[in-house]
Amino acid sequence: MHQFLPIAYFQNRFVPFKDANISIATHALHYGTAAFGGMRGIPDPQNPSQILLFRLDRHCQRLSQSAKFLNYELTAEKIEQIIIDFVKKNKPSTSFYIRPLVYSSGLGIAPRLHKIEKDFFVYGLEMGDYLAADGISCRISSWYRQEDRSFPLRGKISAAYITSALAKTEAVESGFDEAILMNSQGKVCEATGMNIFLVRNGRLITPGFDQDVLEGITRDSVLTIAKSLGIETIERSVDKSELFIADEVFLCGTAAKITPVKQIETFKLSGERPVTQKLRDKLFAITENKDPQYKDWVYSIGI
Ligand SMILES: Cc1ncc(COP(=O)(O)O)c(C=O)c1O
Repeated sequence: MHQFLPIAYFQNRFVPFKDANISIATHALHYGTAAFGGMRGIPDPQNPSQILLFRLDRHCQRLSQSAKFLNYELTAEKIEQIIIDFVKKNKPSTSFYIRPLVYSSGLGIAPRLHKIEKDFFVYGLEMGDYLAADGISCRISSWYRQEDRSFPLRGKISAAYITSALAKTEAVESGFDEAILMNSQGKVCEATGMNIFLVRNGRLITPGFDQDVLEGITRDSVLTIAKSLGIETIERSVDKSELFIADEVFLCGTAAKITPVKQIETFKLSGERPVTQKLRDKLFAITENKDPQYKDWVYSIGI
């Protein structure tokens, strides 16, 4: 059972989480006409009266862009201010996750994006590790990631997550922890809520933006960190068979952070993961504001 933060932002004001409720006739519920974000926050280990949010600006920018696909103008600056106020009101004392969502809030039927009311809400919950930090097993999903010509993959649109949900349940019900989805070209794409990286001969490889991946903020962070550590990075299409012989594979995302993969289908991967470990240590230090080089990635809020 989730532990929700007590205050939510809903219909332009802050209200108790339990009072933030919607009608069964809400348009978004029927047609998936919503888009969301997800970011992590922690109390600063050096000063718990400060809350640290990782790459707040990028998360707000992506949500604002996602809102455009819903025919809704919501600026990144407005989202940012509401999230800052949300954190101040909730004063979280442990690691947590913020879920902002834009959606067609009008009541009624007929799928469309024009002439239908929109709303924006934010709530939060306490969150520790989303996946086992010591490594997970993955199945290659029988479900394929959508393609951009029929779905706006540059947005984080709620309706897309039926595919993630199908893939995750298929994986778990067949004995795996997580699913890796191929794209419509049959190339490696991403997991159900994480981007994917491989290490081969010391080089870090991830499917490029032309492979229908979500523009993950952790993905971007990992690539930037790797370059600064002198690790060669390559964004290109990746074949399924490369996964099975990779030296290291990991998934990354806001919830999953950097999660090593120890098995894909019947292929066991090495337990030696020097590159994953290096990137993980660095990312953790950055999110805890312990790395002066990346201070501008960490937004600090006094509570
Ligand atoms: C489908 C999908 N891919 C990748 C990611 C990773 O993105 P981020 O690092 O911005 O959390 C997510 C998580 O939001 C996701 O839902």
